[in-house]
Amino acid sequence: MSKKVLAIYYTQSGQLEEIIDSFISPLIEENISVEKVRIHLANDFPFPWTSDSFFSVMPDCVLGVSAELAPFQLKEKNYDLIIFGYQAWFLSPGIPSNSLLQNEAFKNVLKNTPVVTITGARNMWLNAFARLRNLLSEAGAKLVGNIALTDKQPNLVSIFTVFHWMLHGKKDRYLKFFPRPGVSDKDIINAKNFGTILLPYLHNNQWGKLQDELISAKAVEINEDLMFIEPKAGKMFKLWANFISKRQNKKAWLRVFKYYLLIALFVAAPLVFIIDTLFLKPFFPKHLKSNKQYFLKLK
Ligand SMILES: Cc1cc2nc3c(=O)[nH]c(=O)nc-3n(C[C@H](O)[C@H](O)[C@H](O)COP(=O)(O)O)c2cc1C
Repeated sequence: MSKKVLAIYYTQSGQLEEIIDSFISPLIEENISVEKVRIHLANDFPFPWTSDSFFSVMPDCVLGVSAELAPFQLKEKNYDLIIFGYQAWFLSPGIPSNSLLQNEAFKNVLKNTPVVTITGARNMWLNAFARLRNLLSEAGAKLVGNIALTDKQPNLVSIFTVFHWMLHGKKDRYLKFFPRPGVSDKDIINAKNFGTILLPYLHNNQWGKLQDELISAKAVEINEDLMFIEPKAGKMFKLWANFISKRQNKKAWLRVFKYYLLIALFVAAPLVFIIDTLFLKPFFPKHLKSNKQYFLKLK
């Protein structure tokens, strides 16, 4: 019997769509029909963003506040596999992805269904994935694989390039000097290999070893340095989000947060990195390993 696959995702620039197209291409070559659904919000966010609009979504992202989705139709009531494409926004599931996982009709479709999550992030997707994993589990979905493509440039470089991209809308080289932002074309093309890995699991409906194979193929890699920084940053974001969401003059406080973030990225993060490298990594290898496992596991 032919398999029914749904690929559902949100994307602003189209990058995640390109990644998904590459990932599902081996399925299409085998004549498996993949229903692609790109979701939108009823009041979609602007792209490119302005600086103010970009930071304005921080509290709702971090606090998991959902927004109204534009109506969308699915052809089937259930699927053999759902490919769920999401973004990390402010170390949290992006508002559109979070809103989709709060949608009762979609939650019914997710129930008891194998799901592969896929993202095209800057480089900090761990917290977002951990939260998404919980939401999927609450919806009764069966997470069978996770793919995370990232911008492989150094952290402090991709901060500049991603902002250039988000605020100007073009995935091109900032000042003709910096590298191109986002997931590289090579990595996007390479996502096809992960689709090839997926095929036998989909045919057999046996998913046990899929994630191990995806990890071996580097479909998901943990950057240890960022793994130290992200959970700490996530806690700070939560404090800020709670604080700002209760303020009357949110706009002014969001500007303060913007400057806090710049200091955190350019001063605090490198310091945390040095401390972790000198004092934690060499002495607590078991802790490092279990942390990594936490972000690689599916349950
Ligand atoms: C508001 C906002 C916040 C973001 N925060 C993060 C983040 O915390 N971590 C990260 O790796 N990428 C972050 N990104 C980058 C996105 O994950 C994604 O790579 C980028 O928006 C391109 O996705 P697209 O397919 O929707 O165009 C952020 C993007 C936006 C718009």
